[in-house]
Amino acid sequence: MLFVCLGNICRSPAAEMIFNALLAERGLQGRIRCDSCGVAAYHVGQKPDSRMLAALKRAGIPYNGHRGRQFSPADFDAFDLIIPQDTTNREDILCQARKSEDAAKVVPMSRWFPADTGLDEVPDPYYGGPHGFDLVVELLRAACTALCEDLAARGR
Ligand code: 4NP
Repeated sequence: MLFVCLGNICRSPAAEMIFNALLAERGLQGRIRCDSCGVAAYHVGQKPDSRMLAALKRAGIPYNGHRGRQFSPADFDAFDLIIPQDTTNREDILCQARKSEDAAKVVPMSRWFPADTGLDEVPDPYYGGPHGFDLVVELLRAACTALCEDLAARGR
């Protein structure tokens, strides 16, 4: 699965690392290919934002060495689930779909939010303080847990 955000330095690499940590907890590491990318190219080749790495560390999630990369339509062939973090990311991915099968692979992260969040996207923490990064980590941990359970229920 491929998590997508704008810059690939905050939300989507966090989702990737949290999802991989959940797989490891379940003894399923390596069973599902999990990656992340951004719709924009600003941060290609860069490490995740240090504020996000600090929030992940506070939550016990280690940095896996990910470097920023940009989404490409070839990702529609490489992944069977493409998960944008917000509405704009979703639109930016959908407009690159080459056929209906591509578009059908795009499912928003909010699909797996707990019902009581009142949110319909993962908020962009980039211009805020450290608390925003902790909130994103907490939201992604809940959503990735639900995603793991969803995949297990579907026998993946
Ligand atoms: P991300 O956060 O999309 O979660 O990686 C952002 C990263 C960079 C920028 C905005 C949001 N930026 O404007 O450079």
